[in-house]
Amino acid sequence: MISIMLSEPFELSGDDTFAYLQEVSRYSEWDDHVLESHQVDRGPIQIGTKFNVTYRILRQELTLYFVLSALKPGRDVLLEAQHDHFQVQTRFTIDNQAKRLSWQTSVHFDGIWNNASPVLKTILKSELSRSFQKLVRALNPSKQVPDLPDLKTQIEDHLLIPGLLRFSRLGYQWETNCRYPVIRKLNKHHIVITGASSGIGEAAARQLALLGADITIIARNEIKAKASVNRLRQESHSRKKHRYILADLSLARDVDRTIGELVKLDRPIDCLINNAGYLYQERQETDEGIEKSFALLLMAPYRLTLGVKNLLKRAPLAQVINVSSGGMYTQRLKADHLTQGLMPYDGTRTYAQLKRALVMLSELWAQEWEPDGILVHAMHPGWADTKSVAETLPRFYQITKAILRTPDEGADTITWLASHPDLSRTNGRFWMDRRVHPTVLIPGTNPRKTDYQILKETLQNFEPETPLPQ
Ligand SMILES: NC(=O)c1ccc[n+]([C@@H]2O[C@H](COP(=O)([O-])OP(=O)(O)OC[C@H]3O[C@@H](n4cnc5c(N)ncnc54)[C@H](OP(=O)(O)O)[C@@H]3O)[C@@H](O)[C@H]2O)c1
Repeated sequence: MISIMLSEPFELSGDDTFAYLQEVSRYSEWDDHVLESHQVDRGPIQIGTKFNVTYRILRQELTLYFVLSALKPGRDVLLEAQHDHFQVQTRFTIDNQAKRLSWQTSVHFDGIWNNASPVLKTILKSELSRSFQKLVRALNPSKQVPDLPDLKTQIEDHLLIPGLLRFSRLGYQWETNCRYPVIRKLNKHHIVITGASSGIGEAAARQLALLGADITIIARNEIKAKASVNRLRQESHSRKKHRYILADLSLARDVDRTIGELVKLDRPIDCLINNAGYLYQERQETDEGIEKSFALLLMAPYRLTLGVKNLLKRAPLAQVINVSSGGMYTQRLKADHLTQGLMPYDGTRTYAQLKRALVMLSELWAQEWEPDGILVHAMHPGWADTKSVAETLPRFYQITKAILRTPDEGADTITWLASHPDLSRTNGRFWMDRRVHPTVLIPGTNPRKTDYQILKETLQNFEPETPLPQ
């Protein structure tokens, strides 16, 4: 038998730490050997809950079925797995004063494998120690995230092939070694998310609901909105939580009505996620006479966020997450064309212009709103396999389909930002895969001071008509 005991003194943050240790489905965040892990049966985690964990060890994949066989809330978690040739027990314990975390792993080998125990013990100890250090860092999230893009990220982003491959599923997988996990539960959090009836938004809403957040979805299609809320209720085992507000976000009147409904709900908003989006290949105008790409991609997040600013202010430390796109790297803002689209109309470039503007708006708000306790982030989900990519970029979709991310992978950074306890040091940055990235890669696309000024002045014409009472 091999038994390895690792232990670290640590200032533990109570229930969240313990909840994180129980969540075997998140072990890949800190254990580099875990490729995937899932809870097998739905329902709250309790004694008897089963988890399916796939490891990559010495280039081989091995799947183990763990059963949670002991659970003392706040103190002790024991998981056991049975394999043809060995049994594994892995146990986390937190001491009485919540000042020390210990991790004990025991492997009982059958037959001839037992003879190899001394060698295996040395290997296992060094590998487990590495993972344990990452776990300890995960339990202390505010110290870990670099606030500027590191040199490697800068170089890779600037090189065409590695830069583009990072957007794909491969990029997501390369980043698994530096995932910067967070452990926070979101039980008291109210999160508002637009465009959560499909794709990345739907995945983010589900991930956040599983962390305990109460979600308000803003969507335009009632059947889809209802279905999404029902799924959230089922998966988070709550019939009371989660709701939807119907709105076509390209219409100013619908955005204003949404603001009114959120005000009526009278709940502080801990996080607003401006995710809804679409790439219009043909120029269209709404029945309010506004160019549709502008209306959906910039006016809607601007108007909605301003309209609910006082609800954000009421949360202890609120966050706004603006979902942009890597396409914005190709554009320097042509601020004079913002509201009309690029002429002659080019859907892809207009989309990229508006996503660039959204990143710039995030930077402006981050500076202005920090004293109000509101942090603002922009992010890029990478290239994910979603309805709108298939519909609006069919050739791109055909070529890249095999390497597109899943919507869950695209949503990962949204969920991570929304659940992070304090990203004040990185307020206003542009994120992908839980890392800060540069906002300018191509010479000549750097926004000037005047671009920010014109952006601000242009958007002032689109403020909500129903400002919140102070
Ligand atoms: N997928 C990618 O590779 C990728 C890359 C970069 C950036 N993004 C950004 O990620 C965000 C999510 O896109 P996705 O890829 O997940 O696409 P998606 O699956 O098509 O989801 C888009 C969501 O936005 C909603 N929406 C669109 N127009 C709306 C409107 N007028 N009013 C209200 N809701 C509206 C859609 O509602 P319906 O369900 O009713 O259509 C849907 O819920 C977008 O901002 C997109 O620009 C995606």
